[in-house]
Amino acid sequence: MQDLKKLWKIFNQKFTDSGLIKGAFSAPGRVNLIGEHTDYNEGFVLPMAIGKKIIMLGQLRNDRLVQVFDLSYKVGDKFSLDNLSPTKKDSWANYLMGVVDEIQKAGYPLQGANLIFTSNIPQRAGLSSSAALEVVTALTMAKLNLLEIKPVEMAHLCRRAENNFVGVACGIMDQYVSCLGQKNYALFIDCRSNDYDLIPFKDHNYQIVICNSKVQRGLVDSEYNKRKEECKIAAEFFNHKLKREIRALRDVSIDEYKKYQSQLPEVIARRARHIISENDRVQTGAQALRMKNYSTFGQLMIESHKSLKDDYEVSCVELDLLVDLALEQEGVLGARMTGAGFGGCTVNLLRREHVNAFKKTIKQGYKKITGIIPDIYVTPPAEGAKVLEFMK
Ligand code: GLA
Repeated sequence: MQDLKKLWKIFNQKFTDSGLIKGAFSAPGRVNLIGEHTDYNEGFVLPMAIGKKIIMLGQLRNDRLVQVFDLSYKVGDKFSLDNLSPTKKDSWANYLMGVVDEIQKAGYPLQGANLIFTSNIPQRAGLSSSAALEVVTALTMAKLNLLEIKPVEMAHLCRRAENNFVGVACGIMDQYVSCLGQKNYALFIDCRSNDYDLIPFKDHNYQIVICNSKVQRGLVDSEYNKRKEECKIAAEFFNHKLKREIRALRDVSIDEYKKYQSQLPEVIARRARHIISENDRVQTGAQALRMKNYSTFGQLMIESHKSLKDDYEVSCVELDLLVDLALEQEGVLGARMTGAGFGGCTVNLLRREHVNAFKKTIKQGYKKITGIIPDIYVTPPAEGAKVLEFMK
């Protein structure tokens, strides 16, 4: 990525200096280690921020205009803080507009700003480039306007922007970890209470490796919403059956599931089994990570993938291939798809000394069958959103 000096040079070529506050900010993408599709079931997730991020430079303006330029795609846009509506279909500007809209709706006063940003997070790869864009926008606008918005509140604002403005009914995981991730820690999140626990994840012998299948199905959004609906049906069924309030599948135990599953339609039963068993895996996995029990953690990743593939049906042939190839390699403890699914990436846990051989063999094996050379990223847990420079 370009250094800040070069980015400021570009900024100064694009905009005239307003003489007001300016600064540079960043927000990372994420990889989810375990706990897939559990966030919108009020369950548990265990992601970490990655070393790929968006950097945004901004300066406050004296009026209500926001001007923004995307350096990666070399396109610009502008909008007024008084006229925010999601009119620009499929435009990245919706993420920015959505965020400033939610900040204002939360009662915070804003002035306009000039902004540029650059990203090295691959898009539509399941590594949360959109959450990173929302979070870096929220941080930039908050800091330039001298607002104190706490990271958890910021994550919620950004999620609402995506739900209400962009129209994707996502859970809280991506925005949360982009705001709160920390270097060398995975983030265990209880998506009901919003409590979190940073779990140290730095071991010289082990490494997280991400494989990008480079395929993306158009189905993601529609199938995502369908799964959400199916989980709701299952939760309502258990609420009716069990003699206590079941707000979400998070409230159902594996034993209760087993007792009543035969009364559910077959597909709904499988969806529920994934969520209920995955919640269990995340909690066991978090404990295993705390104890540095990587072989148990790896095993849980493998089970998670099987469940996502067979019960939740959000994997695809390319992701299954990457997982199968990975599990044949020496030194691999676990492999699974990560993110919403239907393409995107897998996440792998392996012994460090095998990383180079792994990269080589996966590239060859995957290319041989699909004709595509996958991208492979090696990343320790990185830090969450932060201020890089601030000039009053
Ligand atoms: C997407 C959503 C998240 C989460 C995952 C699946 O990344 O944005 O909220 O639901 O899918 O675990």
